[in-house]
Amino acid sequence: MRLELTDEQQMIQAMAREFAEGEIAPIADDIDRESRFPHGTVKRMGELGLMGIAVPDGWGGSGSDTVAYVVALEEIARVCASHAVIMSVNNSLYCDPVLKYGTDAQRERFLKPFASGQEIGCFALTEPQAGSDASNQATLAAREGGHYVLNGRKAFVTNGREASVALVFCQTDRARGSHGISAFLVEKGTPGFVVAKTEDKLGLKASDTAELVFEDCRVPAANRLGDEGMGFKIAMAALDGGRIGIAAQAVGIAAGAFEKARRYAKERTSFGKPIGEHQMVAWMLADMATAIDAARLLTLKAAALKDRGERFGTASAMAKLFAAETAMRVTTDAIQVHGGYGYIKEYQVERYFRDAKITQIYEGTSQIQKLVIARAVLAGGVREERR
Ligand code: CAA
Repeated sequence: MRLELTDEQQMIQAMAREFAEGEIAPIADDIDRESRFPHGTVKRMGELGLMGIAVPDGWGGSGSDTVAYVVALEEIARVCASHAVIMSVNNSLYCDPVLKYGTDAQRERFLKPFASGQEIGCFALTEPQAGSDASNQATLAAREGGHYVLNGRKAFVTNGREASVALVFCQTDRARGSHGISAFLVEKGTPGFVVAKTEDKLGLKASDTAELVFEDCRVPAANRLGDEGMGFKIAMAALDGGRIGIAAQAVGIAAGAFEKARRYAKERTSFGKPIGEHQMVAWMLADMATAIDAARLLTLKAAALKDRGERFGTASAMAKLFAAETAMRVTTDAIQVHGGYGYIKEYQVERYFRDAKITQIYEGTSQIQKLVIARAVLAGGVREERR
């Protein structure tokens, strides 16, 4: 087993780090305080090839792989988790399913400009009454000739306000349950499609989280992604990949907070020596470093399985579960190491703490990841993934 990045993966990692430190770090606190979507740096992410890393270059992407995506995403999240989720949703939940299930005509319109970062996509699955129970969709798409007429509402859609196209999941045959769900690519500006509101959140304040409403919204049948009834599988497969991205985001948040805690522990003195030399603080740092490394390795494993074309759903659930829990614990401890200074904005760890919380919730809560893992364990699936 070789734990080495290829030259290309290292190059993308270094480029992402340089970009994050040089261009995102100077604005990260301001965009958080002002809840401001960072249009300029998101455009730059597109120019640098970060918005479609694993999409072939013929379809507007960078033609790299999921491991490169993960290491780049960690670098971005280490500095700003809002940028990381904007990037993750566009790569994993939008571009990946359009690449996998789209026709060439759909890829031309709905993938190329998104993988190159000229436009942004979003993924609209969750509804006010369908979060963890994702197949309980109430949004309807009724076929009328060459169109589908959409009615319903989607909640907590990352990039929902800024995206020019939404990948929307709807019931086309309620009687068939999860097999009666279909996926549609719906363009902003289509009559009957409105962004009803943008949420005011605890963290990730520079990314937009919107409610989308569809009222008699007529969508051409040519915009259906995959066959009728395939929507739930498309959503679940996209989330398998998306969870690798969120795991990488969580690793980045944890790594960023840890670096600040380590630096502070070396600078701040108490009882005549740096606080890092007190065993109580030293052990906290040791636990943080160990958990971050374990989370990173689980994330890279899931990414490598995906790149090899092997089953990776359980590995991505494990990575997301462990990385999210690690991000929450590490950011909590990073505040503790800073004491009172950790609780004020100047030292930034409170932003990391607020941003970490959502990683335990979106793209499947930690409890849902345990459900996915437990089902695989009981079915013997984890062994299969190891082969
Ligand atoms: N890949 C492909 N197909 C899958 C699949 C996967 N990973 N998981 C399930 N399926 C298929 C099943 O095989 C089954 O099909 P068959 O009947 O043909 O076998 C069908 O889908 C139904 O599967 P289940 O019976 O397992 O479905 P369920 O109702 O029990 O739900 C669940 C399973 C794991 C709980 C699922 O509902 C789930 O993941 N819930 C969490 C949803 C989620 O992550 N939401 C986040 C939304 S995005 C977001 O957070 C906002 C954002 O913008 C970032």
